[in-house]
Amino acid sequence: MKNRMKYCIANFKMNLGTQSSLTEYFNALKQNQFSKNEMIDVIVAPPFTVLNNAVSLSLDFNSNIKIAAQNVNENKSGAYTGEISIDMLKDAKVNYVIVGHSERRAYYNESNEQINDKNKTLLSNGFIPIFCIGETLEQRSENLIEETLREQLSIGLLNIREKNFIIAYEPVWAIGTGKTATSEMITESHRMIRNILNDIGFDGQKISILYGGSVNRNNAKELIALSDVDGFLIGGASLDAKHFLHIYNFMKENV
Ligand code: PGA
Repeated sequence: MKNRMKYCIANFKMNLGTQSSLTEYFNALKQNQFSKNEMIDVIVAPPFTVLNNAVSLSLDFNSNIKIAAQNVNENKSGAYTGEISIDMLKDAKVNYVIVGHSERRAYYNESNEQINDKNKTLLSNGFIPIFCIGETLEQRSENLIEETLREQLSIGLLNIREKNFIIAYEPVWAIGTGKTATSEMITESHRMIRNILNDIGFDGQKISILYGGSVNRNNAKELIALSDVDGFLIGGASLDAKHFLHIYNFMKENV
């Protein structure tokens, strides 16, 4: 099934968060040919402090580049020092938000329940969550992949009827390690995810599922050819605009 929307997403994490580095990045992106009606959305997720500027740069661009935030707080407002609310992201005019990234789960103890609240807040406010799930190496070696993904999906999407979200399958052991999952592993997990989505009331064939974890220009071509892979969430390799564009251009050839 090739008519699902495709996404090529740059997750800057805590990098490229100055106005000058962001401008330089967008200037490099401008060297590429983007067309408006493609089936691929290019999304850049920079740090919060440059979101406004990223939105203006993307609008100047006159292309289909969109901007994502890397997180949102599940509460509307209040005494949550250091957090960013949904209204602040609305004001910044971003469309997408990364939710449940494994770094947030591991370093900031985000639970599946909290991620569910974030997904609900985002969807009810018209944002598109980029909802990250994936198993640790330990869970993989103990044969707990399906159980882990089922728990993350069924709690993370509990009491949600809207279908306007993207899933990013990111095995934790492949993130930032240079170890990419094999094509077989990715196909198996993406199929598992589609089946679980069917079980919990969604149409798994209609939801875009991205792969993330040490994607780079050497492996992207092989991975995008997999029929279950609808694009990538890219960390390290997205920090170099030229490298990111290489991956995007592989995707463009494949659509
Ligand atoms: P990586 O990160 O590409 O550096 O492995 C991916 C991610 O964390 O989204």
